[in-house]
Amino acid sequence: MDHARGYRVYDPGRDAEDHARAIAEAFATSTDGIPAWVEQVGADFIRVIEVDGRFAATSILLPMGQFFGGRAVPMVGLAGVTVRPEYRGRGLGRTLMEESVREMAPMAPISTLYPSTQPLYRSVGYEVAGTLPSIELELTRIPRGRHALHLSRLDAAANAALPKALDAHATRDLRDLYRDLAPARNGHLDRGDYIWNRILRSRLGPVRTFQFHDQEHKLRGWIALRQVTQQQERHAIEVMGLEAADAEAMTALLDFLGGYGAMAESVTLPLAPHHPLVLALPETRGAMRVRELWMTRILDLPGAIAARGFPAGLELEFSVHLDDPLLPANQGDFLLRLSGGRGHCERLNEAGSSPPLRADVRGMAALYTAFASAEELARRGLIEGPPEALALATMAFAGPSPWCPDMF
Ligand SMILES: CC(C)(COP(=O)(O)OP(=O)(O)OC[C@H]1O[C@@H](n2cnc3c(N)ncnc32)[C@H](O)[C@@H]1OP(=O)(O)O)[C@@H](O)C(=O)NCCC(=O)NCCS
Repeated sequence: MDHARGYRVYDPGRDAEDHARAIAEAFATSTDGIPAWVEQVGADFIRVIEVDGRFAATSILLPMGQFFGGRAVPMVGLAGVTVRPEYRGRGLGRTLMEESVREMAPMAPISTLYPSTQPLYRSVGYEVAGTLPSIELELTRIPRGRHALHLSRLDAAANAALPKALDAHATRDLRDLYRDLAPARNGHLDRGDYIWNRILRSRLGPVRTFQFHDQEHKLRGWIALRQVTQQQERHAIEVMGLEAADAEAMTALLDFLGGYGAMAESVTLPLAPHHPLVLALPETRGAMRVRELWMTRILDLPGAIAARGFPAGLELEFSVHLDDPLLPANQGDFLLRLSGGRGHCERLNEAGSSPPLRADVRGMAALYTAFASAEELARRGLIEGPPEALALATMAFAGPSPWCPDMF
């Protein structure tokens, strides 16, 4: 029997209890912290699916930005995807995702999410497109070093317990330092309050934030960390976020971490192996892991190309046929032109000859973020074309391997 399904915006008066129970059941948490979480997210960004008038599924659409080629591409982060246990396995998750994708398409040119299971998201056009890496180091191996920076603790007001709003004034300098450095890293988020709150005020426990200034009172580095108790009174350090503007700030950060070595065994940092702080270690003997893979969907190819940055000296053009069964406006033949660090993409007249390059919307996502080359995607069957067309597509999007230190 077919059931009536309605997709709508969350209504705090009507949905709060069902929503809290659904999230708690799905992610094995208590319902206690959920009202504060809803407040942080903003009720307007929560979606609900009803079946026969009952609350059956929910998701969150978080408008943010994600850096690619040095520019912040408007992105909707999809999170909290939940189907209540009694409604699972009958296509409701897919319905929720299809509705979400259609709603997001006019909001932003791309969407990104952390999947708990990939087939559901692949079925609506997402593909694996970047990593959330970590490196675990023994603290006694971290080099101590000399530097002339002044170390201080960030104003305690910014570290107060949830759910108070983050102190924008106290955290302005460290947000600015992130905003200076993150655009060069493909995949980093253009962080809003929701993400900053997750870094500086983890719900997992107290976070302590320290900053490094120079003689001119300029912020050169910062680090936010949590101490995680282990057996026999020893503990480990989990770094929630950090930035270092230059080599001296890197020396200062490493020296500061080394100072925890008496009681703590190890430190876990959310860093990719090509982050300069990892390159600042004399020996990189640590456990490097991909903690999570994130998936991206191209919702609007011309919008995504116009929003991204490209290498300034690169002048090229090529055409592509994009297959997107879910979004007809994003399907068809397109001409891409890159010039002066910017991209331009327009729909081609359907009467012309078919472009030599054909891409599934999933393949286009992994290419766009610089996660995989066109040649590798062709081997997986997500892109096809002659070698010259594949080489041109790889060159167009090539850049630093995409990674993101933040879960959402
Ligand atoms: C994941 C979840 C949303 C799926 O909802 P659902 O309504 O059962 O999914 P659907 O019935 O619409 O399934 C859609 C597709 O995804 C696949 N899928 C669903 N759950 C899956 C799982 N756990 N593992 C692998 N594939 C899965 C289905 O096989 C189906 O593909 P198919 O049509 O090719 O067979 C649901 O199980 C849930 O709420 N889980 C707990 C919370 C969670 O993990 N959320 C995701 C956070 S990113």
